[in-house]
Amino acid sequence: MNFAERVIEWQQAHGRHDLPWQRTRDPYRIWLSEVMLQQTQVATVTAYYERFVECFDDVQALAMAPIESVMERWAGLGYYSRARNLHRCAQQIVDHHGGDFPRSVDALARLPGIGRTTAAAIAALAFGQRAAILDGNVKRVLARHMGVEGYPGNPAVERDLWQHADALLPAVGIEAYTQGLMDLGATVCTRTHPMCDECPVNRTCIARREHAVDRLPAPRPVRSKPVRAAIVLVLRDESDAVLLEPRPPAGIWGGLLSLPEFDAEATREVVAAQTRARYGLHIAINEVLREVRHEFTHYTYLMRPYVAQVICASAVADSSLRRITEHEFQSAALPTPIRRLLMQLANSSLPLLA
Ligand code: ADE
Repeated sequence: MNFAERVIEWQQAHGRHDLPWQRTRDPYRIWLSEVMLQQTQVATVTAYYERFVECFDDVQALAMAPIESVMERWAGLGYYSRARNLHRCAQQIVDHHGGDFPRSVDALARLPGIGRTTAAAIAALAFGQRAAILDGNVKRVLARHMGVEGYPGNPAVERDLWQHADALLPAVGIEAYTQGLMDLGATVCTRTHPMCDECPVNRTCIARREHAVDRLPAPRPVRSKPVRAAIVLVLRDESDAVLLEPRPPAGIWGGLLSLPEFDAEATREVVAAQTRARYGLHIAINEVLREVRHEFTHYTYLMRPYVAQVICASAVADSSLRRITEHEFQSAALPTPIRRLLMQLANSSLPLLA
């Protein structure tokens, strides 16, 4: 038996058959389950799926529903653009396809929220079309079985995996095969501790033969993140309150209060002059503290804190800065690293000097 025939036979004997979206060929139900399963695990999806179809029984009902009630039923599943796309997709199917799901992978993939894999899963499971899927689980099965090196998120590696996925499709039995590949990835060919002894395709698995199961698929390469540095000003007024600046609503720390920022290379004189220009405050810079490092997802932020005092106190009231006293540090809307820095400063008498 070839790869596909063994997967199909295994699916019939050991695969999953009782998930709520199985035993139906209703493309609406299959589509809904596939969208929910895009980023959420089966165990979580099950209850949401059942409540959703109870409320919206078919694509017309969903298309006519107000978006607010769709979002209500989605609340808790995460990745909310999926729910907005789901609603738009239902409306397009009603408006442009007479309420019937298109049957071809290409037409399905043109609808909102339906990528190549979701389109293929719907085409295969609802319409019996011979189409290849390649979600995260299937990438793992194929990378191991075919011994595909490299990170599957890399476009060249992904192209290779799609070619294997297409080449391995069965002549008949696409429904059981598609479900079987997903089930195999979810229950046997798992990321950690795969159960190779239970696997129907273990005899032809390249990773198994070459003792590479633990190594494949290759993990995402760790990229060194860019570093962004800035001088930040810990500015105190005459009563020792710290003066903080509201961040613009969009972007990092949007809407929070933070320390005024200056170019990383600015000298003390430049920082003082810019403070005068921006906020109308005359200041004296007293100390330079040790650098504080904060990791964002996409970059590392290095803060060089300068500690300064307002000299001309009368101007404070006119500036756009907010006065935050020491006992407000805990409750104010501060980014965590800024709160930590201010609390450390408040609790210490100068051990942080650079
Ligand atoms: N993940 C994505 N699609 C699935 C399906 N039809 N059954 C189980 N898990 C899945």
